[in-house]
Amino acid sequence: MDLSDDGPELAPAWREADNNLYGVLRNRGASAVAGQFVGAGWRSRSSSWDAYEVETAWCQVELDPADGSDTLLHGVIDPDRLDTLAALLSRFGVRFTLELYDESGALTREVHRLSPPSPSPAPLPPPSSQPRVTPASPVSSPSCQRAGRRWVPRRWVRVVMRVFVAGGTGVLGRRVVVRLVARGHQVTATTTSAAKLGLLRRLGAAGVVMDGLDAMSVGEAVAAASPDAIVHQMTALAAAHAGRPRLGRLDRWSATTIRLRTEGTDHLLAAAQGTGVRHVLAQSFAGWNGIREGGWVKTEDDPLDPHEGTAAHPAAMAIRYVEDTVAGDGGTVLRYGEFYGPGATDDQVRRVRGRRFPLLGDGAGHHSWVHVDDAASATVLAVEQKARGVFNIVDDEPAPAREWLPHLAACVGAKPPVRLPGWLARLLAGEVAVAVMTEGRGFSNARAKRELGWELHYPSWREGFREGLA
Ligand SMILES: NC(=O)c1ccc[n+]([C@@H]2O[C@H](COP(=O)([O-])OP(=O)(O)OC[C@H]3O[C@@H](n4cnc5c(N)ncnc54)[C@H](OP(=O)(O)O)[C@@H]3O)[C@@H](O)[C@H]2O)c1
Repeated sequence: MDLSDDGPELAPAWREADNNLYGVLRNRGASAVAGQFVGAGWRSRSSSWDAYEVETAWCQVELDPADGSDTLLHGVIDPDRLDTLAALLSRFGVRFTLELYDESGALTREVHRLSPPSPSPAPLPPPSSQPRVTPASPVSSPSCQRAGRRWVPRRWVRVVMRVFVAGGTGVLGRRVVVRLVARGHQVTATTTSAAKLGLLRRLGAAGVVMDGLDAMSVGEAVAAASPDAIVHQMTALAAAHAGRPRLGRLDRWSATTIRLRTEGTDHLLAAAQGTGVRHVLAQSFAGWNGIREGGWVKTEDDPLDPHEGTAAHPAAMAIRYVEDTVAGDGGTVLRYGEFYGPGATDDQVRRVRGRRFPLLGDGAGHHSWVHVDDAASATVLAVEQKARGVFNIVDDEPAPAREWLPHLAACVGAKPPVRLPGWLARLLAGEVAVAVMTEGRGFSNARAKRELGWELHYPSWREGFREGLA
């Protein structure tokens, strides 16, 4: 939807006020109502996949989808403008119930518009379907706590962070930038190319040219931004930086990425220390490196596979380095699964279409995918919550290659993949590729869901490939 920036800013008096307004909008979805508020000149932005914040100078509310097609509304309003809001909702043609509370939490007014077509006035839903309590985060929606049978308002907390995204032009980086900006944060984002500064400006960030392998360059950029948090999304795996992907020669293909994960991490952490940055988040990987022993699905407590003695070993060691260094320093490490989505899977899709992505051996090796938009939403949650430790950012369905690869081919209109027996695959594709496709492990996202409150828009690659591939 169009997230209009028109409409007045919330007046400062209301920005710090307690929640005093709760309501139910009948038979109207959150996005539809948000669109109507925008049409009336209010500001709106999505606060999660399906919830919206809308505000004008005298009111700021969150619109949350409820059971069925109802929408829950909760937030803060100038008490003298309750009738104005009611009139506006009537103009929208919505049936609604609004409740206004005073500072002590006592109900002071109720306004209903329940007919027609409602046959009888419907009360507010029972407490179980009242506005859900969202996990606390620095930029949180208005939320409320139950006390007895009533909902007692809690403060609207709004902490805007200054966030430094190293690698802000990347497939993932640019999505992280957009989401951070949409949630009101001040973002500085980096590129190695002055030609991409315009892109960063259009995304809403202050752009800066920085070489992550140059300590001076990193130190200056971080000091100038003086951020609260640093997000490390620097890799050089894209064709522009590394040429054609080659799993068999991972050491050469990922040589610069290995340096970005070791030297680049050191430079960012040094700059963070020098500038007093309290939180650092870094990219790790949950793909070809699941430990090949035990069950098919690995948690954050399982070690990663060092792929000792193969071309993948240096890259595996660099991943271990970034994890130990950043998590060891109290920061966040996000082990992203294999990205898919617009711009993220172009090379795989090309190879699948050309039948140059064969199924190796029995194809029993598992794999974890994640849509880049879901990866970005998890990243923003981790930044806002200053999460600590390692999180697997993967979808709900780790699956063997013999399932996802034919499905991917079908989704992009390609013929089924060619099958290569293990011995031939070893000669043609190399030891690592065969090991991954026959013995690779998937990853569990239980911790990210539980601790970050992460909800996926694409819980499985099955629907995700159908809808979300380039
Ligand atoms: N991330 C992974 O673990 C992974 C694994 C397997 C495959 N892939 C695939 O690889 C492709 C790239 O994905 P991605 O999002 O990881 O990377 P990306 O889109 O290439 O983004 C990398 C970011 O790092 C920046 N960068 C590169 N070299 C740098 C340097 N020396 N100093 C500072 N910044 C530097 C880039 O900046 P500029 O380009 O603007 O200079 C860009 O902002 C995608 O198709 C993805 O699906 C990724």
